[in-house]
Amino acid sequence: MKIVISMGGSIIASPSPSRNIDIIKDFAKLLVDYYNRGHRLFVVVGGGQLARDYIRVAKELGADERYCDEIGIRATRMNAMLLVAALGKWAYEDILDDIRDDSRLEDDFGISRIFVMGGVRPGQTTDAVAARLASKIKADLLINATNVDGVYDRDPNENPDARKFDKLSYDGLLEIVGEKHRAGVNTVIDPTAARIIREDKIKTIVLNGKRLENLRDAIDGRACVGTVITE
Ligand code: UTP
Repeated sequence: MKIVISMGGSIIASPSPSRNIDIIKDFAKLLVDYYNRGHRLFVVVGGGQLARDYIRVAKELGADERYCDEIGIRATRMNAMLLVAALGKWAYEDILDDIRDDSRLEDDFGISRIFVMGGVRPGQTTDAVAARLASKIKADLLINATNVDGVYDRDPNENPDARKFDKLSYDGLLEIVGEKHRAGVNTVIDPTAARIIREDKIKTIVLNGKRLENLRDAIDGRACVGTVITE
């Protein structure tokens, strides 16, 4: 299978990467394991606390939305480099600036190594990069690994009564995530990603990236705790 994983920065880099070394190592092991079973793996890493801190300070210093996004993109690439470090010889070392015109994606990437990247351009988050990548390579599965157990009707970190959806339609997802992107704003999937997922009908599972056994269940097609987004 061709699998794209959007790994939230909140999982590997919040409150700081030094607190998540074991998770990064375990996630890298999982990736190598599936790669060696013949899957093609593509991981897009988010910015987490690093992005949020820098964006907040840049805003206070007067930076506009676009500049804040540029700062966020650099944070995602720093985190992506940590995963590359953990994967060693199993990953491509260079973090791509963009996916649009890269012919390597078609022929080689994901075959001879595991592919890792971060953000690419302002106005979106790494979820959108992952969705676009999934669309480009015609992925069999897109996994959005975040810091909650799936898509809820409200933010479960702030509302103890929030209800989780086990399944959601493409339209239902778009209704929940809304329409507009803002730098550093944290929704479970960004609106641009939700639109790509709907347009290209990409099978997507949203789950908690800290529960690696659960991530294995999702990849293996077993029942898992999360939200499955299909037609
Ligand atoms: P993230 O993808 O980490 O977004 O990018 P997030 O939803 O805030 O955080 P996670 O999912 O919990 O990790 C961090 C910020 O970087 C900018 C945006 O400002 C985003 O909020 N960014 C990222 C872009 O502008 N373009 C990209 O392609 C990626």
